[in-house]
Formats: sequence, C-alpha cells, structure tokens
Amino acid sequence: MSEVLVIEEIPCENGDGMIAKVTINRPDKLNALNQDVTSSIKEMCKWADENDSIRCVVITGAKPNPPPEGKRAKPNAFVAGADITEFVGKGSQEIREMFRDNAIEAIWNLKKPTIAMVDGFALGGGCEVACSCDIRIASDRSIFGTPEIKLGLIPGYGGSQRLVHLVGYGRAMEMMMTGNNVSAEDAYRMGIVNHLCTPENLEEKTMEIAQTIASKSMHTLRIAKQTIRASLDNGITDGVEIEAIAFANLFDTEDKEIGVQAFLNRSEPKWVHK
Ligand code: COA
Repeated sequence: MSEVLVIEEIPCENGDGMIAKVTINRPDKLNALNQDVTSSIKEMCKWADENDSIRCVVITGAKPNPPPEGKRAKPNAFVAGADITEFVGKGSQEIREMFRDNAIEAIWNLKKPTIAMVDGFALGGGCEVACSCDIRIASDRSIFGTPEIKLGLIPGYGGSQRLVHLVGYGRAMEMMMTGNNVSAEDAYRMGIVNHLCTPENLEEKTMEIAQTIASKSMHTLRIAKQTIRASLDNGITDGVEIEAIAFANLFDTEDKEIGVQAFLNRSEPKWVHK
C-alpha cells in the first residue's frame, strides 16, 4: 500500500485481535483526497474486511510537518476535502467515473466498526470521510463543513445523504447552502461528533472507545451494525421486524452462549466470533 495511507496495527487489550489505525498522510496538502489516497483507502477497506484479526478501524489525518525555516506551519487537518487540483478541466463523465464505487462508500460499507479521529479541518470530502464512519471523536480545535457550494459544487461522495441523518434536514441544508464552517463545539451539539476532547486527550479517548468495541464479539458487532443500518433504509415497522429476526438469530450463535455464561460465572467472555 502506498505511503499516502499509513496503517498501524494496535493489539487489543484483551489479547484478541488488532485495531487498525489508518492515517491519511498528505499533511502538506492538509490530507486532501487525491486519487492515490482514494484508491489506497479502497484497498485498505478490502484488507480490513478480509483480515479476521482486525476488530475495529480508526481513521485519522496526519499531523502537520514542522515548517521549513521562515515558513508558516500548515494547520492541523483531518482531511480538507477532495483534492481540488484534480477537478480542473474535468467534465461530468470523468467525474462520474472517479466518484463511482468511491472510497467513502468503501468506508461506509466496511463490515467492521469504524471511528473517525478528527483533529483539525474536516471539510468537504473530509467531512464525508468522518460521516461515513460509525462514530466521530474530535478535538475541540476541529472544524467541520461542506464548503463545496463555494466551488459551485455539492458533496459528491454521498455526503448530503449521510449528513442529513446525523444533523437533520434544516442543519444539513444550512451547512450545504452556506458552506460555512462549523466549530467543533457546534458539531458536537448538532450530533456530528460523539465526543469532544482536547487535542492531547484525543488519541487516548478514541483508543479507549475502540478497545471497548474491539472487546466484543465480532459476529455480534456485525449484526448490530447491519441492524442499525437497516433503520436508514426502512420504515420503523420493517426495521423492528429486521431487528427481531437478527436478535432471534443471535440465540443460535456460540457467542451468545459464551456471553451469557460469562455473565453468570462473573468471568470475561472469550469470544469465538461466531
Ligand atoms: N485540495 C487540494 N489542496 C488543498 C486542499 C484541497 N481540498 N485543501 C488545502 N490544500 C492545500 C493548499 O493548496 C496548500 O497547498 P500549498 O501549500 O502547496 O499551496 C496546503 O494545502 C495548505 O493549505 P492552505 O490553504 O495554505 O492553508 P490555510 O491554513 O490558509 O487554509 C483551509 C486552510 C482548510 C481553510 C484551506 O486550505 C481550504 O479552504 N481548503 C479547501 C477546503 C475545501 O473547499 N474543501 C472541499 C473540496 S471539494
């Protein structure tokens, strides 16, 4: 995999599996998503889903490099959007090809739990990467936004659809129509961000949540994710039925028996993830 994406495998505290920490690594361009990054993200998603030891994926942006002598430091960024230089001179056909089967959709479709760890700008495609993760944890200096309207555009990775589920119709409209930045505190208040931390505590808080999730049965986590997702595509009546079937099916799994027995014996469950 190319160096625009750095993957670290962090052992789970219970000794069972790994957390993949994935860093988008173009700090000099505020981690903007060029085609090199997006194809690496797609490869990473395939790898994470096919690798049984990966329990959870944390996605973040690389920290700024120290500035050259006399130059100003680049700001902190999660991802400052799609790489705008790749938009120059492109027409609809090329763009449809570039955005079809895209990297953000690959993150959204990961079967494993995903967390965005945001420290700095999460604009445009960056906001879309964050919103395609299951959970978002951000430093209090982060800035979210969908500034595409200022370029005569709208989000192109499915962001308009996912954002509205997080923040509601009126707020998604305001963000997309004004292109205004949203402070970390407002993003927290609006429901974009699950937890706000200081930059110093961001990694610790993120890993604490990743470790908690990673300690659960992978099979049950997969079913939990599918079941919550079903609420986005179905009305409540169908959704409740989908949950009822998924819940009942879990009673035929080894992990349900392991979990229940561990509770009764006051021991830690040793999942078989089946
Ligand atoms: N695509 C390509 N390059 C980008 C980029 C993007 N989305 N966002 C930032 N960069 C590059 C800049 O061109 C600059 O490169 P250079 O140093 O080689 O000139 C570098 O990253 C640093 O960005 P800069 O604009 O100098 O930082 P800043 O602190 O002045 O401003 C932002 C930060 C985030 C406000 C500003 O970079 C910005 O508005 N970026 C675009 C955000 C956007 O519209 N995203 C949606 C795209 S669809």
